[in-house]
Amino acid sequence: MGAFLPRGVIITTVVDNYLDVFETSTPVVERIVPGKLKRPLLAGHGLAFLVEVDLGEERFSLLMDTGNAFDFLKHNMEALGRGPNEVDALFLSHGHPDHYGGLMGFLAWRGAPLPVYTHPDVFWPKYLATPRGKVGPWELERAGLEKAGAELHCSREVQELRTGVYLTGEIPRRTEFEGGMPGARIIKEGSDLVDPLVDEQALVVNLGEKGIAVVSGCSHPGIVNTIHHAREITGNDRLFAVIGGFHLAQVSNEVMARTAAALKESKARLVVTGHCTGFRPNARLSSELGDVFAINCVGTRVVLGGP
Ligand SMILES: [Fe+2]
Ligand SMILES: [Fe+2]
Repeated sequence: MGAFLPRGVIITTVVDNYLDVFETSTPVVERIVPGKLKRPLLAGHGLAFLVEVDLGEERFSLLMDTGNAFDFLKHNMEALGRGPNEVDALFLSHGHPDHYGGLMGFLAWRGAPLPVYTHPDVFWPKYLATPRGKVGPWELERAGLEKAGAELHCSREVQELRTGVYLTGEIPRRTEFEGGMPGARIIKEGSDLVDPLVDEQALVVNLGEKGIAVVSGCSHPGIVNTIHHAREITGNDRLFAVIGGFHLAQVSNEVMARTAAALKESKARLVVTGHCTGFRPNARLSSELGDVFAINCVGTRVVLGGP
């Protein structure tokens, strides 16, 4: 493990629900130039980020989540000129299939062991009880993953993967307006329960004076809670960037207003949302945060810090 904090991090979106080739680049949010790719990218439900951390002497590469299905994860990685053997580890943010759907395929594609970091509760069967009926159940099978080459590191606590690179562990619920997902159920030790979604963790990269980068999968614990926890873990209050799915489509107007206000107060220099954030929440955050906000797309590269 290096002794110095990361100098920079590049977060490339490999899978997201959104794709828009007309979004413009900024120095920090680079958009793909479609004509330069071998083939077009595909949008698809779910999320996967390729996170490359510059640690000076070492480059640490992490695949965070794998989208809903392996075929478009593989398609997009290949279109972006990336391969399965260039990652040092995989982080599964939580036990929902739009994040682990491509995992078994990815391990088979790689064909070599891979450290996989996650929370132990991702392996319980889960389902959604919706007004339109039951969705699921789904289950990520631990034995199958291990057989496919996953070297599992399951923890409820903070894990520091490299100096300044953290998985948050369980995220305390501090705000009264966040947390939970209507209809989310978990079958734990034979009991059918409301899923408290404690298995969701975020990735945090501490870039020192530049601030922290918070990368969140679905933000079921609440994006504001996630930011609080990331600041506490790193002891760094500066917020460089918040990136990921915020899962706000179903929240009330009041919760939306409080979330937007808290994001404004957070003084984040960059907020990049996609996946499960929701169309109206994205529109609202765009209008409230102005240039701080960017929509995430497949192929987007968020380039933070660096030498
Ligand atoms: Fe999701
Ligand atoms: Fe989720």
